[in-house]
Formats: sequence, C-alpha cells, structure tokens
Amino acid sequence: MQYANITGWGKCLPPAVLSNEDLATFLDTSDEWISTRTGIKERRISHVSTATLASLAAKRAVAVAGLDATELDMVILGTACPDTLIPNAASFVQASIGAVNAAVFDLNAACTGFVYGLSIGTAMIRSGAMKKVLVIGADRIPYFLDYTIRDVSVLFGDGAGAVVLEACDEECGLIAEKLGCDGEARDILAARDSGTVRERFAGVDGFFDVNFEGQEIFKRAVRGMGQAITCVLEKLALEPEQIDLLVPHQANLRIIDTLAKRMKSPPEKVVINIEKYGNTSAATVPIALCEALEEGRIQPGDKILTAAFGAGLTWGAAVIKWGSRITPLAECHDELPENDKTALELIMPWVEGCRAAVAEKAK
Ligand code: UT7
Repeated sequence: MQYANITGWGKCLPPAVLSNEDLATFLDTSDEWISTRTGIKERRISHVSTATLASLAAKRAVAVAGLDATELDMVILGTACPDTLIPNAASFVQASIGAVNAAVFDLNAACTGFVYGLSIGTAMIRSGAMKKVLVIGADRIPYFLDYTIRDVSVLFGDGAGAVVLEACDEECGLIAEKLGCDGEARDILAARDSGTVRERFAGVDGFFDVNFEGQEIFKRAVRGMGQAITCVLEKLALEPEQIDLLVPHQANLRIIDTLAKRMKSPPEKVVINIEKYGNTSAATVPIALCEALEEGRIQPGDKILTAAFGAGLTWGAAVIKWGSRITPLAECHDELPENDKTALELIMPWVEGCRAAVAEKAK
C-alpha cells in the first residue's frame, strides 16, 4: 500500500504589514471592532505576484524535504488569484523553482484550494502514478476587494504556503478526507465580474463587483466544516479527543472557536495565527501547518485535523497522520525582492480606484 508522506513544508509572507489602525485611516472601522469580531490584528500586503509568493514557499518546502526540484512529478497550485489566467500561475512556479519534470496546474477552490490539492496530490501518489508532488496554497484576495465595503475589506491578507508529498510504505500523510461544495449559494461570496463574464471594453477597469454576505457565509462555514469534520472522523472511527492538533482555515476567530468547542479541543490543540495574517485564503492551512512545525507543536505520528471553507462555496476536512520527521533536512535562504513601500502605500491606489468607481456607478 502506498501513502503520501508530508516531507517538506514552507511559507512565504510578504513583509508589508497592514494594521487595523491603518485600515481605520480610510474606512469607518476600528481596531476594537475588527479584533473582537474577527480576531485579526494585522495582515500582509504583497509587493510581488501570487506566483512569486508561491515560488518562494515552494522552494522552502523543497529544501526542507531535501529534494532537488527536478525530482518533482507534479506541482498543484491552489489559488483563486493567478497573475494571469493564460498561462496558469503554476507554470511560473515550475520555471522559477526548476521543476522541469513536473506536470503543473492551478486549482481554484478558493480558500479550500490547499485541502483540495492535498487530496488530489495524495491520490496521485497512492495510485502509483507519481512519487513526489508539491502542493501550494497562495492567494492575494486584497487585490479583488471593494475598499468601500468595510466588512469584507478588513478580513483578508496575502501569503503562500506549500508542502512536499512523497510516496512511502508506512501509513502516514493524508489518511481520510471529505470534500464538497454548496454551489447553489455560490453568489454569497463572489467577485461577480472577475472572469470572462466581464463585458470587454466596458470602462470598468480595476473595479470588481464583490458580493459578500458575511453572516450567511459565517453560518455555512461552521456547518460545512463541521459536517466535513464529522464525516472524516467517522471514516476513521476516531473520537474528537484522539486528534492531537486542529489546523483550521483562518477566516474568523469566532468560527475557529466554534469548531474547537465542538471538537472539545483545548487551546494548546488548536493552531491560531489569524491575528497576524488575517484570511490568506488557500494559504491559511499550509502557513498554519508550517508554523505549528516551527513551534514544535507537531510530533511524529500525530493525528492532525484540518478543515477549510471558501468561495464556491467549497468546503473540506482532512486527517493527516504525521510521519517520522519533524525537522528540516535543509534550508532555503532565498528572500523576496526588496520592498520600499508601506502596506498603506501599496493599497491606496486600489482604495482610491474603488471610491471613484463606486461614485461613477452611483451617478
Ligand atoms: O474564507 C471565506 C470564508 N469567510 C468567512 O467565513 C467570513 C464569515 N463572516 C464573518 O466573518 C463575519 O460575518 C464578519 C466579520 C464579516 C462580520 O461580522 P458580524 O458579526 O457578522 O457583523 P455584521 O455583519 O452583523 O455587522 C454588525 C455591525 C453592523 O452595524 P449595525 O448594522 O449593527 O449598526 C455593521 O455595519 O458591524 C458593522 N460593521 C463594521 N463596523 C466596524 C461591519 N463591518 C464593520 C467594520 N468595522 N469593518
């Protein structure tokens, strides 16, 4: 029997920090509201492309696995924010890390993209078709936001995380998953004109028609992830207490707390970093996994439960049984190109563009 062990992990967070106080300089909001309603204190804004963030996270993961990128059979990039639709962003990652022997594709399942990718990468290895697969989650949702809407504008940040999967004979890696989608409600979390539906030459450059029904998304996130978790635990005949670490999608601290309560997980068994990065969409789970390893919170053989929810409305949960190695085999010392702008300087052109577009539409 083949399994797909996680042998490498890496993350990439751009350096520019956008605090709640920064947001309050142009939005009718406050640190107090954002902190108490979401758990977020700050998030990162990228000065580089999604694929550049993804590539650095990938290089770091490949180094931790002690591999040469030419050994990879496949690169799966979970993203809803590719730099270009044609070609895909995964081909940039392939070229940039030198994964010349890998098949590559982008996978758009929004915030659930990494969990979907982990499931597909694992299946490719377990079928015997491949030996080494890189799975990345990378997003730049702040690029799409309508900065005149205060509830959604405060939630998201940029980032990337990656893992390397390798064929192995012992039972480890992803051992059960449940994935799904509530397509009938897809419009409640949408950038409605973000693809070819957009009228060409319509003079709406740069503005996206964002629809975000926060309370309904909140309810469905709890229900979707909750049901997926129940299903994976049943598949493995596991009691919640037998899970060593919960690594949930970081969309809202209140959602995480609800899931943790249902799982009866004490704080030391839940990975939470939403206060530093906000919701980085497909990147939240691999970034949190990476930080849990860096902080020594994962031990060989641990059972890790992850769950995610996002636009689509996609949802999923997975149980990972950690392998025997929790330390890196090597390190990658590459860094992102220098950035000379503050996060506010990076997003202000978008804020002003959104205001102008909304004023124009109201005429
Ligand atoms: O990864 C994808 C999944 N995404 C999610 O799961 C996000 C799910 N949704 C949420 O996290 C929450 O619904 C929000 C954080 C977006 C909103 O929290 P809420 O507790 O549902 O607030 P609300 O929408 O019910 O708004 C409560 C009040 C309203 O004012 P009134 O009508 O009570 O006077 C809003 O206008 O808070 C106001 N409000 C704000 N005030 C200050 C909304 N956004 C803000 C803001 N700053 N940023």
